[in-house]
Amino acid sequence: MTDLLEGEIGIATESDLVVARKAVRGAADSLGFSVTDVTRIVTAASELTRNIFRYAGTGVMRWHRLERGGSLGLELTFADDGPGIGDIEQAMQAGFSSSGGLGLGLPGAKRLMDEMEIASEVGKGTTVTVRKWRRKA
Ligand SMILES: Nc1ncnc2c1ncn2[C@@H]1O[C@H](COP(=O)(O)OP(=O)(O)OP(=O)(O)O)[C@@H](O)[C@H]1O
Ligand SMILES: [Mg+2]
Repeated sequence: MTDLLEGEIGIATESDLVVARKAVRGAADSLGFSVTDVTRIVTAASELTRNIFRYAGTGVMRWHRLERGGSLGLELTFADDGPGIGDIEQAMQAGFSSSGGLGLGLPGAKRLMDEMEIASEVGKGTTVTVRKWRRKA
């Protein structure tokens, strides 16, 4: 972890969730997101972090600031070398879970963020990228 607006955190245990949440909150706060949006971003990051240690065991979260036209953004990437997702469309459906969970993590994260992409290969791993934007003042 270097500064607030970009960095990388290894994810292996529940306790890394605390560190990841703190980092995301710090980045979102310093980018000027509203309290509501900061909560949305932290919630999405929590779900994607949980998926890493639940399905892959270990992985990494990276984040950095974006700028596009009149908007500032925060991009978060969650990458692992776990089992991968065979059917991404199915995994994105609310209520689908391979682990007896609620199946709301991925669809919830998509709803809370502005953009989300999943790249995954069975046996190789999964990378989920999410972005949130706000208009510059
Ligand atoms: N990083 C990952 N690696 C492998 N499979 C994943 C990963 N993230 C999600 N999945 C798959 O996608 C499914 C849906 O994930 P989602 O987070 O929406 O629900 P869940 O984790 O099963 O339950 P919940 O998050 O509501 O507790 C998971 O059950 C799992 O099969
Ligand atoms: Mg989940």
